[in-house]
Amino acid sequence: MQEVVSRPRSLSGTVTPPGDKSISHRALIFNGIAQGSARVENLGPGLDVLSTIRCLCALGVGIRRSGSSFIITGGNLKEPSNVLNAGNSGTTMRLMAGVLAAQGFVSVITGDSSLRSRPMGRVIDPLRRMGAQIWGRKDDTLAPLTIKGGSLKGMRYQMPVASAQVKSSLLLAGLYADGETVLEQPARSRDHTERMFSAMGVPVVEEGLALRLRPGSLRAVDVTVPADISAAAFWLVAGICHPDAEVRVEGVGVNPSRTGILDVLKAMGADVSVENERTQGGEPVADLVARSSSLEATEIGGAMIPLLADEVPVIALAACFARGTTVITDAEELRVKESDRLHTTATELSRLGADVEERANGLRITGGKPLHGAAGQSYGDHRLAMTLGVAGLLIDSAVTINGSEAASVSYPSFWADVRLIAGKAASA
Ligand code: S3P
Repeated sequence: MQEVVSRPRSLSGTVTPPGDKSISHRALIFNGIAQGSARVENLGPGLDVLSTIRCLCALGVGIRRSGSSFIITGGNLKEPSNVLNAGNSGTTMRLMAGVLAAQGFVSVITGDSSLRSRPMGRVIDPLRRMGAQIWGRKDDTLAPLTIKGGSLKGMRYQMPVASAQVKSSLLLAGLYADGETVLEQPARSRDHTERMFSAMGVPVVEEGLALRLRPGSLRAVDVTVPADISAAAFWLVAGICHPDAEVRVEGVGVNPSRTGILDVLKAMGADVSVENERTQGGEPVADLVARSSSLEATEIGGAMIPLLADEVPVIALAACFARGTTVITDAEELRVKESDRLHTTATELSRLGADVEERANGLRITGGKPLHGAAGQSYGDHRLAMTLGVAGLLIDSAVTINGSEAASVSYPSFWADVRLIAGKAASA
């Protein structure tokens, strides 16, 4: 599919992005293996979350809609009668691998061509250390994964990458293990699993960067999912980069392990205010307001990267509107996301006339060069599609986004919200 987006004279209005994707996967999977029933409100509507729902249903978890919420009835999983499909969703595959490794049956989990090219050794290797029988294509590095579940033992493990997906996979396996699991992280990453496990009666003890978990059974817990800050990021960048804008984004999750984008925009001199801070189901939530700003370049790297990894493409777009050269380093993980995001971001922004240099582990963006409309592509990557959509709202001549349907992976109503914020009729 194709969308064409052009710059409106002004940007204004209120957007409520969809429920947080990371929290939605966890609310489904954790309640799916917990005893009892739970209600999940504001579940993310994207295709990735749907992949998790389908996998869990195939494993015998009860999931039904009730008005605006979902009722999850968990318990013991059963052997699936077919191959499980995680679609485009790395979170589904990696978290489910941790669960499946401990079940008394055989399962196979696959995904789309993007997911089948993403690294799975990062969960296969440590799960094997716990005693799991798990195999993958290409010398146990790629999906499909075949898992013969069985008994696991706890372990102490030094994680080579700061990945919340790997951490969560191992913590899930650790629930079923014999003995304690200790994970030493190289840096902090999103901590939704730790928070939700604790709310479900199995505390994860933090000792600096180490996490300690004793095996236990999760108790079903109702979850109200906040709006996704990774989706809000698109409206924040649209608001600060457009010359006449005030955009309000409501009910956004502002867990400190996710707010790297707010720190970076602040460092760039952006006018983003955080209002009505409150706590909702163990997660901090706020309304964010972004106004037209005069931006300065910044430096982003080190321990900041895991706190804003998914926002790098849209941050790179913001850097095109800043004075000076923004340097992003230590971001090699972006090469193994839904696309090679260092390469695809540099290619697509260059196509619009930006001064972007792709580096081995990051990007170098010199702002201030006038951008022009062009036909770009998403590479099937939702965050690229949406970054180009925001570029269209900011550039004089129209931007065409080929492969625009990719946005549905996390944000099915994204293009409708583009029109809303641009003050255009839904049919435009
Ligand atoms: C996620 C963790 C991050 C992030 C992904 C969602 C999660 O990936 O990029 O979109 O829900 O745990 P990594 O754990 O691979 O860094």
